[in-house]
Amino acid sequence: MHRPLRVAIIGAGPAGVYTADSLQKADIDFDVSIDLFDRYPAPFGLIRYGVAPDHPRIKGIITALHRVMDRGDIRFIGNVEYGTDIHLEELRTFYDVVVFATGAIKDARLNIPGVEAENSFGAAEFVSWYDGHPDVDRHWDLSAREIAVIGNGNVALDVARVLAKPASQMLETEIPDNVYAGLKASQATDIHVFGRRGPAQVKFTPLELRELKSAEDVDIILYEDDFEFDEASEKAAAEVNQVRNMVNTLTNWLLEQDDNPEGTGASRRLHLHFLEAPEEILTDQGKVAGLRMQRMELDGTGNVQGTGEMKMYPVQAVYRAIGYFGSAVPDIQFDEDRGTIRNAQGRVLGADGKPVQGLYTSGWIKRGPVGLIGHTKGDALETIGHIIEDAEHLYTAEQPDEQAILDLLDQRGVEYSDWNGWQELDNYEMSLGELETQSGPVERERVKVVDRDEQIRISRAKARQAAHS
Ligand SMILES: Cc1cc2nc3c(=O)[nH]c(=O)nc-3n(C[C@H](O)[C@H](O)[C@H](O)COP(=O)(O)OP(=O)(O)OC[C@H]3O[C@@H](n4cnc5c(N)ncnc54)[C@H](O)[C@@H]3O)c2cc1C
Ligand SMILES: NC(=O)c1ccc[n+]([C@@H]2O[C@H](COP(=O)([O-])OP(=O)(O)OC[C@H]3O[C@@H](n4cnc5c(N)ncnc54)[C@H](OP(=O)(O)O)[C@@H]3O)[C@@H](O)[C@H]2O)c1
Repeated sequence: MHRPLRVAIIGAGPAGVYTADSLQKADIDFDVSIDLFDRYPAPFGLIRYGVAPDHPRIKGIITALHRVMDRGDIRFIGNVEYGTDIHLEELRTFYDVVVFATGAIKDARLNIPGVEAENSFGAAEFVSWYDGHPDVDRHWDLSAREIAVIGNGNVALDVARVLAKPASQMLETEIPDNVYAGLKASQATDIHVFGRRGPAQVKFTPLELRELKSAEDVDIILYEDDFEFDEASEKAAAEVNQVRNMVNTLTNWLLEQDDNPEGTGASRRLHLHFLEAPEEILTDQGKVAGLRMQRMELDGTGNVQGTGEMKMYPVQAVYRAIGYFGSAVPDIQFDEDRGTIRNAQGRVLGADGKPVQGLYTSGWIKRGPVGLIGHTKGDALETIGHIIEDAEHLYTAEQPDEQAILDLLDQRGVEYSDWNGWQELDNYEMSLGELETQSGPVERERVKVVDRDEQIRISRAKARQAAHS
């Protein structure tokens, strides 16, 4: 074919960027021309709007993604939402290939009575708040003294740590000012994290678990009765390093606590409970007033069954950190049970269960909301492997000209932004960090701009000037 294969990737999170990068770097005998879309002027998905602000090393993965985009062979088109600003049939006229890498931003549903009560929060909402996501309310109610966090994954740890840590320890991060003010005013004294299974079944990772101990002015509290291990737990602890590591860490903390039952007298306590499953959120005048938990027991296989024994925790807020869930993508077959696009190893499937020519998917929306940033590289490689395999049948776009999509967005009045626009916003956020470093008590590398209109204004300022000159 005498022209490059035109590829649109929807979603500039890690999966989108890695897919674009892998395709550009693949050993292939045809050229590609890639447009990477995101609904926000700021790229990088959950690295920007999910990874905890006090994890700067992980946020630093953005530097590697910047290097990919700075090469200039992938065009970023920000502030364009698939399904609102641009639709499938239009994309099909401009591109031979469309890859959906739209990730997940919502909470999985917990079906228990009381879940809709005021101060029953999804972890994803709270994460979006503290990470300055433009689409969430800027106010957060942190008046609860006792708080429950449901779930034993890394998101539950992030949420519990952010709730427990003194706000002063968050000040050096990129959190917006309203988040710092909210955390500083928090009334929390006790944060209870609940796992429905045992210490050998937690989904934490070792570094993240051990990090809990480094929060200043926080005592970790464990309960001896929760340290139950069935045959499967013992086998896993003997055979799987990560399980052994987790069990050892938790058991050592329990032993340390035996030596010093009073703790350090810290202002906040973080309680880790195991074998407790949520039954009901109790309410008073529509607000969370307690959490009823059922005691569970291991069944020999590492799974649990209910014992019928109930316990009430008098908490005033509940955070549900039981996993994320993907959102349906317009005009694409969606698996409502898994929260993923229907696909076969990255090839999007149609209603007849067969691959739809030219449509692919990558990342969490392909595989479900589990796994680290690095795992999206593997997704990307699998997906581009199929694109390459299918390549000779893919040249179908009627208007492959790179300008055609921009003309359509202009006609429609869509205020799209580009890579230079993101760099403007990026520099602006870093300049805010510099200003605060000069005037405040700690060094801050960046302060995030939250408001979407402001993000758009900053990232389009140069383009607007150029258009008027
Ligand atoms: C709270 C939290 C903390 C995490 N912390 C870590 C960590 O510390 N370390 C680690 O390795 N992993 C971490 N992860 C996992 C990591 O974030 C994911 O593995 C990774 O982000 C998945 O990448 P993705 O590109 O598939 O999805 P996402 O990162 O969600 O990116 C999807 C992108 O698609 C865009 N998009 C969505 N819909 C549309 C649309 N209709 N039109 C245009 N664009 C759209 C979104 O704006 C977003 O930019 C964390 C996850 C969560 C939830
Ligand atoms: N720092 C980091 O590296 C970092 C930070 C955040 C997230 N991440 C990654 O992002 C991914 C998503 O993390 P996640 O924490 O959202 O999901 P996760 O790892 O799948 O953990 C979900 C937790 O919720 C529990 N759960 C599910 N349904 C429940 C219910 N109905 N009642 C009670 N508990 C329930 C699960 O228990 P069961 O095991 O019993 O099902 C599990 O403990 C993971 O791969 C994680 O490692 C990484």
